[in-house]
Parts: sequence; C-alpha cells; structure tokens
Amino acid sequence: MKVPFLDLKTQYLSIKKDIDKEVLQTLKSSNYSLGPKVELFEDNFKKYCNSKYAIGVNSGTSALHLALDALDIGKGDEVIVPAMTFVATPMSVSYTGAKPVFVDTIYPSGLIDFNKIEEKITSRTKAIIPVHLYGQCANLIEIKRIAKKYKLKIIEDASQAHGSSYHNINVGQISDVATFSFYPGKNLGAYGESGCVITNVKKLNDKIRKLRNWGQSKKHYHDEISYNYRMDGIQGAILNVKLKKMNEWISKRRMVAEMYNKLIDKSLLKSSEDEGNYHVYHIYSIFLKERDKLQKYLHSKNINTGNHYPVPCHLQKPYRIFGYKKNDFPQSEKIANTQMSLPIYPEIKVKMIKYVAVQINKWISNTS
Ligand SMILES: Cc1ncc(COP(=O)(O)O)c(C=O)c1O
Repeated sequence: MKVPFLDLKTQYLSIKKDIDKEVLQTLKSSNYSLGPKVELFEDNFKKYCNSKYAIGVNSGTSALHLALDALDIGKGDEVIVPAMTFVATPMSVSYTGAKPVFVDTIYPSGLIDFNKIEEKITSRTKAIIPVHLYGQCANLIEIKRIAKKYKLKIIEDASQAHGSSYHNINVGQISDVATFSFYPGKNLGAYGESGCVITNVKKLNDKIRKLRNWGQSKKHYHDEISYNYRMDGIQGAILNVKLKKMNEWISKRRMVAEMYNKLIDKSLLKSSEDEGNYHVYHIYSIFLKERDKLQKYLHSKNINTGNHYPVPCHLQKPYRIFGYKKNDFPQSEKIANTQMSLPIYPEIKVKMIKYVAVQINKWISNTS
C-alpha cells in the first residue's frame, strides 16, 4: 500500500464539477485579478471567521507583511515571534526592517511559551505574532493580557489554523489582525498561491485593502509606497467552492487524529488538543528521539511523512546576525529534532490510517 503525505488530486476529483464550473466562469468573465469572485470570497470568509473584514491577497506571507505595514511597524521596532514556526513569520517582520525577537515554544505543542514573552519585551517592542502552529491556537488569553499590559499589537498567524478556536474565541477575534495562507497544502488551499487578512478594525481594513493594490484610492493615484499583493480571480473562485466543505473536512481531520491516537502505541508522544482548544489538525505529529530512523523505515513501507520544522527559525542563516546559537530555545530545538508529521487529510482511507499505525507499532516493537 502507498500512503502519500497529501493527496490534493483526490480532493480535487471530489469537488471537480463545482470547481470546473467556477474556474470556467472566471476564465470567461476575464476577471483574473481581484474581481467579483474574490469579493464574494472575502464576504464568505469574513462570515466564516466571524470577523468584520477580510482582504484577499496573493499569499500568507504577503498577508503578514501587510498586517505589519498597516500597523506602522518598521525599522527600529521589534516584534516577538515564536522560534518554532515556518520561516515566513519572522521573514515578514524582516521585510519591514523591524527585528524579529524569538521566544521559545512549548514542547510538544510548538505554541509560543507565553511565560517567556515578557522577558523579551523592550521599549522597542511593538507587536507579538502568536502562530497557531499545527492547527491549534496559542494561549490567546495570556497573550492578550501581556499585549494590554505593554500596549502591544497582536497579529495572529493563523496560516495553519483556519476554523480553529480558543475557549470559543474564533481565530482573529481578540487580536488586531489575523492572517491566513491558502497555500495548496493548507487545510483551506488554493490551486496556486493565495492568502487573506482579517480584522475588526475599519481603519486597518481600509489601509490593508489599499496597500495590497498599489496604494490606490483612485485609479492611477498612488498615495504611498505599496504592493502588488492582489488575489487572483481564479483562486477566489476555487476558495469559494472549498470553503463550503471546510467544516466537514475539519471533522474528518479530527477523526483521523482520533484514530491515530487510538491505534498508535501508547508509548509514543503524539499530537493532542490543549484544554479549551479546537484543533483543526493541519499537522498530526509524533515525537521521538529516533525520529530519523522511524521516518526512513516508514518511507521504505511507502508511507510519506514530513517534518515541521527541522530547523527552528533562530538557527536559520539570516538570523545568525543576531547571535542566536544552539540551546537558546531548547523546547523548539527539541521539536525540530524529534517531530514527525504523519499523513492527515480528509480523503485518507481508514485502511491507510491502520496501515500507518501498524507499521509504526511494528517498528516500535522491533526496536524496543
Ligand atoms: C505559520 C505560517 N506562516 C506563514 C506562512 C506563509 O504562507 P504562504 O506560503 O502562503 O506565503 C505559512 C505557510 O507555509 C505558515 O505555515
């Protein structure tokens, strides 16, 4: 049996009729950049997130950059980010000229350790970017408390957590801005690059909307240095179809996680749902010292797995300039060295889940 890490083709085939119709309509309308399908998606997505505004953009990275720019974060400023995240989180801070200041994460959830945020705050700190890693929310209540105390902005990086919530607070509801990636492999994935910003603040909505489209309030009049970060019409059309399936797909992901939890050997540390969280399982992780050996074994059994992420951000080349070194953020480094992502998607078959669990258990009993 073969178990791919992701199976986007099977998902496409399950919604082909609606996708083909929407894409064809968009092609015929020639609204290729922004346009009515993107506007409809913005309307649908803001309702889905229970937010006042949604702005469709061309990637999750652009969404982060726009959020930071709209909050006037730039040279001389510092922004708190977790050490364990996809590199787009600190890189977007670097785009603005501000300095990303890393904070360790909690093992094994990978969520920012709120107890370690305050010691990193200086007079230059302007914002905190909690990342809802793997599909569950960082502790938004504690982060909100800290942000209020030090008058900091919060930008939630929800690129991996569409539909997630924390103590019934939807992603994006207690921050200034939240950002999403619709990279194809995400829980809500476009058929190309795409992303979105949500906010409840009108001023930020207006500013971000303008910044994504060359700072134009009127055609040919550019009010400030700004960007081409527009969402494609075709991506808007595709995302409208896929958004309707989101809750069903999240339920399926949660069922897959439940099966893995039940079937995989109890001795293994696995993904779990923190108290008050609604985990949407973008990533399902297991953690073990001999990760590389198990990963190799699973590949030999045609099971594809991933690592999210094998190098924490503070140890990435561009951030050496700040003098970070090994053991600066031990929990994030432990995740980097022990985490493995198992195949999880709504279309995965029960026999595949069982096969993955059987092979992991076999490897454990043969090595212990
Ligand atoms: C946590 C996180 N932030 C930001 C991004 C960037 O999104 P994009 O690839 O759409 O630019 C990603 C995508 O992988 C992500 O996982």
